[in-house]
Amino acid sequence: MPIINVQLCVRRGGSQGLAIPTLVESPIDPHELAPGQILLRVEKFGFSANNITYGVLGDDPYFRYYEFYPAPTTALTSPETHGIIPVWGFGTVIHSAHPTVKIGQRLYGYLAMSRYLILQLDPQTNQYHVNIALGDFPKDRRPYKQLNICENDPMYRPDREDETMLYRPLFWTAYWFEDYLNEHKYRGAKNILISSASSKTAFALAYNIGVRKNHSRGSLDVNVVGLTSALNAPFTRGLNLYDSVLTYDDIPTLGSTGSWIYVDVSSSPSLMTKIEHQLAPILTITLGSTTPNEQNAKNLWSNNHKAANHEGFFVPEWLAIRVKQLTIPQITSMQSTAWNGLMENCTSWVSMDRSSGGQEVLEAYKKTLEGRIGPDKGQIFTLWDSPTDFRSPSKL
Ligand SMILES: NC(=O)c1ccc[n+]([C@@H]2O[C@H](COP(=O)([O-])OP(=O)(O)OC[C@H]3O[C@@H](n4cnc5c(N)ncnc54)[C@H](OP(=O)(O)O)[C@@H]3O)[C@@H](O)[C@H]2O)c1
Repeated sequence: MPIINVQLCVRRGGSQGLAIPTLVESPIDPHELAPGQILLRVEKFGFSANNITYGVLGDDPYFRYYEFYPAPTTALTSPETHGIIPVWGFGTVIHSAHPTVKIGQRLYGYLAMSRYLILQLDPQTNQYHVNIALGDFPKDRRPYKQLNICENDPMYRPDREDETMLYRPLFWTAYWFEDYLNEHKYRGAKNILISSASSKTAFALAYNIGVRKNHSRGSLDVNVVGLTSALNAPFTRGLNLYDSVLTYDDIPTLGSTGSWIYVDVSSSPSLMTKIEHQLAPILTITLGSTTPNEQNAKNLWSNNHKAANHEGFFVPEWLAIRVKQLTIPQITSMQSTAWNGLMENCTSWVSMDRSSGGQEVLEAYKKTLEGRIGPDKGQIFTLWDSPTDFRSPSKL
């Protein structure tokens, strides 16, 4: 008997499309899985500006975020007209036509705003993760296609699922970006200026630089300055993760002595111009695009990569280099130490805010898009009305 999927779709064609979300129902027949496919019940996922950036870059030929989980073909939608924004969350396998993946296995990874997903897996799995078939995506996108098997994941903690959904993608960005800076000896800079300092990616970066400073016994001597909006300044200062926090209006007061790196999480061209004028010569490294404007996002990696004193950082690209330099046990040990440290320190940073069911998620999605969610909130979404909606596989 078919089951009804619920998905939140947006119109393709740039940032304007993000403002036209639609809840779409479509049938799935769980007994018609092709060989190697599984049916995953998506139970919950985190949501932040990061996911909005996935949508802004959904059609970009380099990032192709809308191609990971194409929109269904219904009276209202098709893969050509609509996209589904990817998210990081938990799900349970409820049907399997894969030789080794079992019903009931719980997985964590890069999913979509959906109640169910049919996933075509590679025949090979390992102890730690199942692999979604990569298709024609470049090999460096593999991290998006590995779903961790929770019961074998050394970092999985049942009492920390919310923090996992919220921080894993953002924390690892910050962690590997700091690793990138460290491997390049911070380019000799003495000052690191980070915009959108109230964002989780930005303050996780400040946290990771702080951890490195503490362990370096004085050999890393950088001053970390957070730059944020006046509204979000009290929250950002209260985190105590930056050496100082200034507002965007304070840029003229920044001293130009000492060498600077500008970590651009905002991707606002006018802000970048002001900073570069004030602190020249300065190296700008674009890390994010919290201003949901397609042109800004497109400038991120394409233009900035090419200009002098500008770089773009994309985790999969750096990881593809690091996996050749480090062994897997080394990476696992580095990540496990970092994750345990985060779990000890992060609980006071934000409080969790839950939205359940299509309508609540739709409203919370719109608020996120419009910048109406405070930085002190970590959003956890589920398209199910309540956890009691999860039916046991035998009843499907
Ligand atoms: N390069 C990579 O590989 C990579 C990987 C992961 C994430 N990222 C990027 O990091 C960025 C931050 O993501 P996040 O999830 O950490 O952000 P978040 O926690 O949701 O923080 C959002 C912050 O963005 C700023 N903002 C300005 N205008 C906004 C608007 N209209 N709507 C929402 N926020 C607005 C605000 O900070 P202020 O008031 O402080 O400006 C706000 O507090 C994203 O662009 C994401 O794509 C990059």
